[in-house]
Amino acid sequence: MHVPALNALTQADQELAGLIQGEAERQHDTLRMIASENYVSQAVLEATGTVLTNKYSEGYPGKRYYEGQKFIDPIEELAIARAKSVFGVDHANVQPYSGSPANLAVYMALAKPGDTIMGMALPMGGHLTHGWSVSATGAWFRAVQYTVRREDGRIDFDEVRDIALRERPKIIFSGGTAIPRTIDFPRFAEIAREVDAVLVADIAHIAGLIAGGAHPSPVGHAEVISTTTHKTLRGPRGAMLMSDEKHAKALDKAVFPGLQGGPHNHTTAGIAVALGEAAKPEFRTYAHQIVANARALADALIERGFDLVSGGTDNHLILLDLTNKGIGGKPAARALDRAGIETNYNTVPYDTRKPFDPSGVRLGTPALTTRGLTEAQMPQVADWISRAVDAAVKDDEPALNTIAAEVRELLAGYPMPGWH
Ligand SMILES: Cc1ncc(COP(=O)(O)O)c(C=O)c1O
Repeated sequence: MHVPALNALTQADQELAGLIQGEAERQHDTLRMIASENYVSQAVLEATGTVLTNKYSEGYPGKRYYEGQKFIDPIEELAIARAKSVFGVDHANVQPYSGSPANLAVYMALAKPGDTIMGMALPMGGHLTHGWSVSATGAWFRAVQYTVRREDGRIDFDEVRDIALRERPKIIFSGGTAIPRTIDFPRFAEIAREVDAVLVADIAHIAGLIAGGAHPSPVGHAEVISTTTHKTLRGPRGAMLMSDEKHAKALDKAVFPGLQGGPHNHTTAGIAVALGEAAKPEFRTYAHQIVANARALADALIERGFDLVSGGTDNHLILLDLTNKGIGGKPAARALDRAGIETNYNTVPYDTRKPFDPSGVRLGTPALTTRGLTEAQMPQVADWISRAVDAAVKDDEPALNTIAAEVRELLAGYPMPGWH
């Protein structure tokens, strides 16, 4: 059953309550391996489900356009103070509705439409909002894109520097959405300084690893840091922008009134709770366990003949290239889902297949680490993945059902926040 209990909701709207219960049960019974997902704590769930959702608060603490901010102001101030302390930054804005609007605010603060901006290409592991053509950031700016090396799947800093010197971008985005390796922020900063660009670190995926000391911090290297709050950081769906004092005003103005109206105060409270959790010693253990699990899983997958982009992982994420297994990423992800293992199909660098039917599957360990799984279970997880991919190739539905039952049995021993 969902916790907190859905008593009033069940009475008022049985249909919807049933759907939420179903999703909670699905999350409980599934090995959730989508690299950008997690389980928030019950405390975060409670904070986001409160009367704070009733309140309008356009503006910032102490400078609002609506009355009645006696409790909202200290809530937002708490979230800001905790963000500053956890990440060691001068300035934090906790109002962006999500990662994509946060990145749009970065552009609004630092560039004008038509300016040259630079980011990693989407099929190489970058995010849509780093200038990919179908995104507003690719349509409204002159986007130039860097890649990874074909041989080893790593960022080629000679190429990054060459493009930057030639194109003189105003902004350089570092970070991405399918990068299994440590981001070298000092190297990016060197290049940005050389061409007088502002370096932005989009740490959406790795924010929790940075907070927990399991990935180097971009602070002191990137002038602006953008992050979601709901991935490894294990907070509610939302985002934050952080910076030194130099960019603080422009970023705040871009978020409100530039792009948004009233902040989502219930989300702000959830972010404050999550940041409070991230400041605790247990979170350091959690962040390091995510990486240890990903490494152990990578080794176990390689032993089973899987081809990993870049040959392994340094963080929470593994990108499988399934070409040698004779199956596309999409049918593999679908079969894995039927086997109780939730992933997403993903392009791999230099993919020869189409984006809707690419060669890869992306895996992540943040959620299963929250459930309490350790390196000890990773060979078993790799074995299930391997059996499920083989079953998909052979169209063996009963084998997928058997794996799903085994997954359910294992997970029954690992509590899920939000479920009892
Ligand atoms: C690196 C990166 N930046 C930005 C975003 C956008 O976040 P949202 O989906 O909350 O808009 C994502 C989402 O996956 C991401 O991976």
